Amino acid sequence: MIADVVVGLQYGDEGKGKVTHHLCKTGGYTHVLRYNGGCNAGHTIFHDGRKFVTHHIPAGVFFGIKSIIGNGCVLDPVQFFKELDELKSGGIDTNGLVYVANNCHVITDNHKEEDGKDKKIGTTKRGNGPAYRDKYARTGIMAKDIPELKPYLIDLHDEFWNHGEVKILCEGAQGFGLDVDWGDYPYVTSSHCLTSSVLLNAIPHYAIRDVWGVAKAYETYVGAKQFQPLHNRVFQHIQEAGQEFGATTGRVRQCNWIDLPFLKKSVQLNAVNKVVFNKIDILRTVDHWSLKNNDGKTDFYEYYATEDEFTSRIEEFLADTMKDLEIHFSDSPHRI
Ligand code: IMP
Ligand code: MG
Repeated sequence: MIADVVVGLQYGDEGKGKVTHHLCKTGGYTHVLRYNGGCNAGHTIFHDGRKFVTHHIPAGVFFGIKSIIGNGCVLDPVQFFKELDELKSGGIDTNGLVYVANNCHVITDNHKEEDGKDKKIGTTKRGNGPAYRDKYARTGIMAKDIPELKPYLIDLHDEFWNHGEVKILCEGAQGFGLDVDWGDYPYVTSSHCLTSSVLLNAIPHYAIRDVWGVAKAYETYVGAKQFQPLHNRVFQHIQEAGQEFGATTGRVRQCNWIDLPFLKKSVQLNAVNKVVFNKIDILRTVDHWSLKNNDGKTDFYEYYATEDEFTSRIEEFLADTMKDLEIHFSDSPHRI
């Protein structure tokens, strides 16, 4: 068994989808697995000139690869069937390709109604938090209890362990800064967003080969807390140039510079060996190269005159995290 992981290093919306697509095209995978989160995630895909927005179904389906929603996720059956219909009517063949782990928990109408009233966290109102709460309170409903899901159910242990060689691409949702344990609690999501959560989906640690950590050249966050520094016009420019609006809720994403110590922690705790920084092209349009650092007591900003100095500083800062760490700076929505 071989498993490669795509994991978010910041607050979601880092461009994990682009990396997933690249790997689906080139990686020869037998399976793509979503290992955490619900339909709070949003994934915009341009495939053969058509636009698709998926929240649940992993990107493997666009490439004819078996696509599984793992037991680390929570599933809204209404959204699931809606997406299946949209894919089919968009000309994507989903037959025999889309599966749900039988022990995945389900998001109910009550969960959505309750989450719809949230004001404190600024959730996506998709029922994610209440569904995970009920799972851990042992009052939840599992996918195997829903008759309509029967044709899509899969046993992950059997699928990954009893059918010869498998090569799995593990597609994460959200990111390190939203992790329920490592994020800024309570301004977090209700799932675990780290590489370690892949292992809960019937994948042994020794199968993991590459961990692709995905970040942006700046940070964005959507939710209730104040994140963006006030009175700084450059972030408005970045928002506009980078089209920083949520794929699920359309909310404006707050912006800030990359937080270096936070980024390093994220690379370390996720066991990342390949990092992709997306949207370098957006910083080029504003021509402003800054990073956030901390001297052990207070935050301060570092300013660089050129893109070269900026990328070198990031490379230098991350150099001691892992031997042979590979770093890519991407300046195109279509390339790594
Ligand atoms: P929930 O996951 O809907 O409960 O929302 C909790 C927090 O995570 C809120 O700040 C959301 O905006 C944020 N969040 C959840 N999913 C995503 C995502 O896919 N991208 C960015 N932020 C997200
Ligand atoms: Mg997203």
